[in-house]
Amino acid sequence: MKTVYVGMSADLLHPGHINILQEASKYGKVIVGVLTDSAIASYKRLPYLTYDQRKTVVENIQHVSEVVPQETLDYRPNLKNLRPDFVVHGDDWKTGVQAKTRSQVINTISEWGGELIEVAYTPGISSTQIHGSIKEIGTTPDVRMKRLRRLINAKQIVRVLEAHSPLCGLIIEHAEAENNGTSVEFDAMWSSSLTDSTIKGKPDIEALDLTTRLQNINETFEVTTKPMIFDADTGGIPEHFSFTVKNLERVGVSAVIIEDKTGLKKNSLFGNEVAQHQDSIENFCHKIKVGKNSQVTDEFMIIARIESLILEKGMDDALTRAKAYIEAGADGIMIHSRQKTPDEVFAFCNKYNQIENRVPLVAVPTSYNSITDTELAEAGVNVVIYANHLLRASFPSMREVAYSILKHGRSLETSDKCMNIKDILDLIPGTR
Ligand code: SPV
Ligand code: MG
Repeated sequence: MKTVYVGMSADLLHPGHINILQEASKYGKVIVGVLTDSAIASYKRLPYLTYDQRKTVVENIQHVSEVVPQETLDYRPNLKNLRPDFVVHGDDWKTGVQAKTRSQVINTISEWGGELIEVAYTPGISSTQIHGSIKEIGTTPDVRMKRLRRLINAKQIVRVLEAHSPLCGLIIEHAEAENNGTSVEFDAMWSSSLTDSTIKGKPDIEALDLTTRLQNINETFEVTTKPMIFDADTGGIPEHFSFTVKNLERVGVSAVIIEDKTGLKKNSLFGNEVAQHQDSIENFCHKIKVGKNSQVTDEFMIIARIESLILEKGMDDALTRAKAYIEAGADGIMIHSRQKTPDEVFAFCNKYNQIENRVPLVAVPTSYNSITDTELAEAGVNVVIYANHLLRASFPSMREVAYSILKHGRSLETSDKCMNIKDILDLIPGTR
């Protein structure tokens, strides 16, 4: 019997997929290569269902004989291994990101006389449409919380942007851009102590209580589906940190970052310009352990933030701490720097990558902002946080408009600084 290979994500299955499998089964025994999370995340958004869930669904479709994992968007490794007589695919890959994959498939199977069969795209339904509808339905705390680990496992780099309001959350939810021929989007939100405090007109000194910050997160979660990483400053005393962990996990936050400082916390970007004190390794490890023992699920992450470079304690101190914090149970390490260049972060990455039980690494390139996400990924960084940019973008605009109205006694002069009335009325669905 002839064999037929079909590669698919099989996340949001619709009649278009079934049509392809049905067509494929006319040519022989159908082997489906289900793309793994990382294969999919290399060119589009992470699927909703995990690989195992998608595999189970496909295995039970009547036209399918066998399921194998397809580890890359590139079909060639599986094709060379299986040497199918036919490859069947929808005809929608002739242009766009998959066009290159298509020609690789044609060249490879021609080596053994294999043939590509292209099935007409089923009009009126697409995964993109279903994706939009699912976003409208929303998500649950559990699904949202677990998604960050999946993203870290599947992606070269996880992109995170600061959200101090539900409206920021919506920008992060929907922003999409083309970068090097691939569609990119933000993967998660950062709840920043700096911007959460600033938006309330308060200093970034742990003055904002958890209840206030959780209220903001709840409202943001009401209108978004992406995961969130929470900046918990020093985490407070371990007995209090325990409650913070439980609360964050309960509402569906995916990770908490605590920094190894003690006493009155000041923002790291001051460095030693203000009095700041680093916690002892022993105390901070104890706090990490208390946090780990407080969480309910296995998926919630506690990320330890190292302030050694900020406080000029040296690279060796940073590395010693990284090792100790990992031993204490940290699920990730954040290395912070306030240098204008990424040199010291790169130096840290070099050494950090050699640690045997290395955990995911987080960087916050606020001051060394010439670095790109791709360069950070190449250095070994797993998560990049753009920590304050939406607030820094909006405040100067708002202030300028306020001054202009006073100066001119009217708002006409600010028209080009403001979105037009029609746009704001149409911004939130349901307003009309
Ligand atoms: C924050 O966003 O509040 C942070 C990052 O903790 S930084 O401001 O650089 O300290
Ligand atoms: Mg902070």
